Order: sequence, then structure tokens, then C-alpha cells
Amino acid sequence: VTFQPDGQSVFALEGTTLVEAAGQAGIVINTPCGGQGTCGKCRVVVKGDGPAMSRAEENALSQKDISEGVRLACQVYVDRDMVVSIPENTRFFEQVVLTEGREHRVHNQPNIKKEFLELPPPASDDLRSDADRLIAALEGTIDKVEIDFPLLKNLPGILREENFKVTAVIEGKEIVALEKGDTTNSIWGVSFDIGTTTVAGALINLKTGEKAGVASRTNPQVHFGDDVVGRIRYTEEHRNGLKELHHRLVECLNDIILELTASAQIPLSRVYEVTAVGNTTMAHTLLAIDPSSIGHAPYVSVFRDSIDVKARVLGLDVNPFANLHVLPNIAGFVGSDTVAVALSTAIPGSDEVILAIDIGTNGEIIMGNKDRMVTCSCAAGPAFEGARIRQGMRATDGAISKVLVNEEIETSIIGGGPARGICGSGLLDAVAELRRVGIINKTGKIISQDQLPDNAPEFLHEAYTTVDGQPAIILVPGSGTKSGDPVLLTQKDVRELQLAKAAIAAGIKSVCNEFGVSPEEVGCVLLAGGFGNFIRRSSAKRIGLLPDIPSSQIEFVGNAAFVGARIALCCKNCRETARRISQKTEYIELAGRPDFQTDYMDCMMFPEIDPESEPAIK
Ligand code: FES
Repeated sequence: VTFQPDGQSVFALEGTTLVEAAGQAGIVINTPCGGQGTCGKCRVVVKGDGPAMSRAEENALSQKDISEGVRLACQVYVDRDMVVSIPENTRFFEQVVLTEGREHRVHNQPNIKKEFLELPPPASDDLRSDADRLIAALEGTIDKVEIDFPLLKNLPGILREENFKVTAVIEGKEIVALEKGDTTNSIWGVSFDIGTTTVAGALINLKTGEKAGVASRTNPQVHFGDDVVGRIRYTEEHRNGLKELHHRLVECLNDIILELTASAQIPLSRVYEVTAVGNTTMAHTLLAIDPSSIGHAPYVSVFRDSIDVKARVLGLDVNPFANLHVLPNIAGFVGSDTVAVALSTAIPGSDEVILAIDIGTNGEIIMGNKDRMVTCSCAAGPAFEGARIRQGMRATDGAISKVLVNEEIETSIIGGGPARGICGSGLLDAVAELRRVGIINKTGKIISQDQLPDNAPEFLHEAYTTVDGQPAIILVPGSGTKSGDPVLLTQKDVRELQLAKAAIAAGIKSVCNEFGVSPEEVGCVLLAGGFGNFIRRSSAKRIGLLPDIPSSQIEFVGNAAFVGARIALCCKNCRETARRISQKTEYIELAGRPDFQTDYMDCMMFPEIDPESEPAIK
């Protein structure tokens, strides 16, 4: 298969999809629906005759598309030599990765310590064994210290080579390594937040608790599906599927570790511990544990508690004795990333009720204080990530990320260049602003142009167009876009947003009901994660995504999960707190709650606009 305009050719076995073949050529195609043939985002053009059309393609493509050779890459199985052109909008672009979060200072108390020891060599009046000699030297520093068995075998050689002057590396109560000379100033660890789309890693000086660097990558598992359901399906449908997902993820972590250690100029062998957080499926694939049970009702995970495993067993390129600590999860769809959010935002120690929300394809919601914590996961669908939206795209260069309606429709474009489409935060803003000025009504309908009030400004009239016989609004005209086609907000886009925001808002209500407070009584709302960090609070309240509380009580906490992973690396006692969060937090399954369905329907509506505080355009 030859891909254009790249000019890359690959040999693909018969039966390979074009998405997979493109992956072989190093081209990542967007697959928001995980290759189900429902989102229509993996459009490519097949030159000449191609394999027969699937039913999904016939449903998703127009006659015009078909006559132009447009196909869905996830639905086309290679059965001949092919030349395939991949448009820019079909390609997966690197997402803006949020690597900062609100810092929560903890006492630096890592699980790894080093002690420089000058042992007395054996003598006729000191016949202690090598091991006893070593353990005795640490008495008073660490109680009941033990020696890792592989180290014991090497002990005599190392001690004598170094003339009994060595640095002991101690993990918990175990000596795991002996190093030549005094290396006590060099103790490093790496913490990871493994998201479905992006992976972020931080290099931490465990002597001081300070961050020495941050690096991020697109999660290479996106080749196998955009969301966790797609990845789970991949493991079920491919004999080596789990192995592939695991290896690609470990390769990605190794790549990040290498970048971080190289730029800090420290050897890989000085990284003694790694911590990781992520959704439950990511944690399973990292550990090469079959995640299938998470993908089928009743959606249970294989493990819940934290896991400690030698990093080398998984293939991580760090000190051979380094430990990997994966934080505990709560349920199949509430992972250690949510535990890490609760840890870094100190919910378990709070007097007031805190509501923390991480919005993505799955919105994870956790509410609590020092007495109690409740969590749920709501299937918001991929609209906030730009999928199923006519010109939706991820938050990357060319995406409309903000919309303001004043004397014209103003937009902010990520990267500052011409617009290519709209990402989740832009969509939310566009709907909120058009709701404010009355173009979208309470039920979510875009009113027709002749329903605009007589005094509506000219630019609003000019923004009208039609898509599929329904009114649509031009956000950026063709003159301001890369393709020359305008970026539109269609009626269907508004409906998709309503579905997504209703899922989150109803999830918030259910958690509040369970907790016994009304959404308006929540003391503080914390928005975590990439999407949460880019939205406008006023817009989120205006469309009813967030409770109507003063904006000053809504805070952005950035990548709080990433901060939580670092806290767990620097503070071994915090790992116990994380375990308590996992064990104590009550998980509510929304699908089983009668009130959720009613709330979900109610939350589809947009709140009334208060003309006093939300002046429409006059
Ligand atoms: S239609 Fe192909 S990935 Fe969605």
C-alpha cells in the first residue's frame, strides 16, 4: 500500500485494515470510534478500484464522497495493491499535553534511601559474616534491614573490590544494591501519568523532592483504538494484542525516561523507583494483565490494590533493582488517576465538601471530605475530545479553542494559524455564547434566521448557513481556514454536546444525592485534566455542565493526577493514603440508579439565561 502525499509504501498482509497499514507506515489515523465505522473521521481517498464498500461506509458517506473515492480507513481491508491518499484532517496530531498541576507540598520521604558505609574488614577478632557486617552498620538508621537475595550472591565480591567502602541503596527495609564509593547525592525516580491519549513523565530528585524535568508523548496505543473500549477490543480480537499494547506502552515510558535522564545527565542506573497512575485499563496493559473483564458488564477489574513489581520484569530501562509502584484503582472505570487526583487535592483531609471532576470521554467525578468520599464515572462520549462533531478535532494546532460573541464572532485558534476545526473547549464556548445571545434556545435548538429578533446585529444574520436542511452557524469563514471551507457549528453538534454535558451534569447530581448535598452547596469544584483546564467557567455554568456556584469557587488544578503520581514517588506514607482512598471511596454505578436516567433527561436542557447577569447582544 502506498500512502500519499507521504509517498510511503508498506507491505501489508491481506486482511489488514488501512488504519493498521498506515500505522506500519508511521502515519497515525484518527479513530475516535475505535474503528467501529460510526464516527466517519478516518476518511481516506482510495485511488482506482478498491475493495467492496461495507454497510458502515454506505451509511456514513454521501454519494458525492463515494464518487470521489472516499473510504473509511477502518473499514477497508487490504486485498490488492493500493494507493491511498490521507487528508490532513484524518491524521492524528499531537495533542497539547498538560504537564503542570497545582502543587501540593508534601514531606519528602521517599521509599529509597542511600547510606555511605565504611565497614571494618573481617579480622581475627571480628569474624562476623559479610551480611551481618553490613546489617550492623545500618543499625540505628533502619530497623530489621534485610538483603535482597540476588545482592547477597554478589556481596563478597563488591565489598572486597571496594575495600569495604560502599553505598547501600535501601528500598523500604531491604538493601537492594551496593554501589562503589559515595553516591548518596544521586537518588532519582520517575513518576508517570498514563492517559489514554498522552503519557507524561517527571524526573524527580529523591534527595530533595524537586522536579528535574518533564517530558510527554502521545500514547502509542492510539494505533490500536482511541479509547479504552477500542483497546480492550483489540486485545480480544488479536492473539498478541495485549502483548503489543504492553510493549508499545513500555517503549514509550522508556523513551521518556531516556529523554529525561539524558537532559539531566544522569545514568539510567541512578533511577531507583518509578510510580505510575492511569485509568484502570492503562494500568492493566502496563502490567500486561488482561483487561477484558473491564470491557464487559459488570465491568470489574482484575486488581484494585496498589502493585509493586520489579521494573526490570516489565522491561523498564532503569536500575535493575528499581521498583515500579502502580497506585490502586477504585473500579473498572475509576482508575488510579482518580485516586491520584484525590491525593494531590487533599480531599481526604478536607473539612469542606470538595467536588473534583476530570472531564474526558469518561468523566470521573469524586466528591468528599475528611469523613467520606463518593465517586462515579460517566460515559460522556467523545464530543469533548472533538469526535462526532462535524469539524471536531483534538486540542491541537488549528483548533478553535475559545469563542466570544461581541461585535462579531471572535475565536482563538491554538497555534495562532488558520482554523482547521473545533476542539471540545471551543465547542463548549460556541454553544454557551450562542445560547447567551439567544441563537440557541433552552432545548438546544438553533433558531431559524427569521426567528432572530428585528434588532439582531447584521453579523449574526451573516453567520447563518444551512447543513442537512437545518440552520448552522459559521464560526470562522472560509477565508480564515486552512482548507478554505468555513468552520461551522451544526444542529447535530449542539445535540452531541448536550448528550455529553448531560452525562457529566447528571453524574454530578447522582454523586451529590449520594453524599446528601445539593450541587449548589458544594464548597469547591476542582477541574482536573487537559479539557477541564482549557474551558471557561462561565461557559461551563451557562450550559449547565457545572453547578451554578460563584466562579471563585471553581478552580483549575491542572494535571492533578500527574501531581499525585509524583507525591506517591516522594512520600511513601502518601501511598498508604492512596490505598485508604481506594478502599474508603464508595463507587456508585450510574447505570443501576433510577434517578440517573431522570436527571440525565433533565440535564439535556440548557439553564435559563438571566438577562441581568448575562446580557445578550442588543
Ligand atoms: S469510522 Fe473509522 S474510526 Fe470511526
